[in-house]
Amino acid sequence: MKPRILKIDPQNIDHDLLKQGVETIHNRGLVAFPTETVYGLGANALDARAAAGIFEAKKRPLDDPLIVHISEKEDLYRLAKNISPLAEKLMSRFWPGPLTIILEKTDLVPDIVTTGLGTVAVRMPSGSIAKKFISLAGVPIAAPSANLFGRPSPTSAKHVVNDLTGRIDIVFDGGKTKIGVESTVVEFDQDKTIVLRPGGISVEELRSIVGEVKVLDEKAELVSSPGKYPEHYSPEAKVVVISRDSRQVEKALLTLWEMKSYGLRVGVMAKQEHMEKYKNFDAQVLGPGSDGRTCATRLFHILREFDEKNVDVIVAEAIKEDGLGLAVMNRLRKASGTVS
Ligand code: TXA
Ligand code: MG
Repeated sequence: MKPRILKIDPQNIDHDLLKQGVETIHNRGLVAFPTETVYGLGANALDARAAAGIFEAKKRPLDDPLIVHISEKEDLYRLAKNISPLAEKLMSRFWPGPLTIILEKTDLVPDIVTTGLGTVAVRMPSGSIAKKFISLAGVPIAAPSANLFGRPSPTSAKHVVNDLTGRIDIVFDGGKTKIGVESTVVEFDQDKTIVLRPGGISVEELRSIVGEVKVLDEKAELVSSPGKYPEHYSPEAKVVVISRDSRQVEKALLTLWEMKSYGLRVGVMAKQEHMEKYKNFDAQVLGPGSDGRTCATRLFHILREFDEKNVDVIVAEAIKEDGLGLAVMNRLRKASGTVS
């Protein structure tokens, strides 16, 4: 059965529609909702049976912990304890917003949410629908990205419906999400901030507040972060990344002609400044190669669009890895399966 799709204007939120979702949450149901990053698939985080439904709907492995979303700072102290001044500093600067913080959990958080870990991931989203929905629900909301496990995260309600029809109760359609990649996930090692997943808050922004920030390299990420699997964010098509070296672009063009001559359907995800080079191919603009923020808003959307066209291969140009460009390249490398 199709989920109930409720259209909500983020500038002028209809509370009666949100209340339908609240009722579903209180009945252990699943509600997909937009955040400023991507759409999340929400359930009552304090109810183990409700949270179990998330794993089932997404086909998510039971060792991949969920993020718990809150709307008020006070809620944090029910979920987490021994919170360091460093964590407080980051929260006061970046919450509400795309930063997820790993903290020691309290007994209130069911084990299934954290997959048995002693820590819990907490985030306070800034998206207006997410904020209001969590606050009306009156409970923290456990929510991973609202895609089938391993697929690109959803940046529109259509993406959610394509992946999860028949598996969830309600989708709030609040249009396209603003940031387009997921939140940055950080943990702490004494006075050091460690980025487990680059995302909507850049490493440069974190450094400007806390000084020392370590970014796990993507191989280490696989070993030390729970539930990290080598191939992730993957469309059906094979993804190939072209490095930023201009000779690689010329080489890629030859390969593209070759693939075309074999009858392969190819999609190109190109930097704006190179679009002209790909005029003989089905090319989509990711954004200017030095503007990670713009590229982030389009990344998952383009990957899914090429899937709808049934392309066999997606050839993606690398962009500059500063700002949100780091998150974009992290997702692209994972989609291409080159991190293993
Ligand atoms: O922007 C976002 O973060 C979106 C929206 C919906 O909020 N959510 C999201 O959730 O991307 P998900 O489940 O797709 O990614 C959560 C990440 C996973 O990589 C998981 O391994 C990590 O957070 N994580 C969760 N709890 C953790 C913990 N206790 N320790 C370390 N990593 C954790
Ligand atoms: Mg996800």
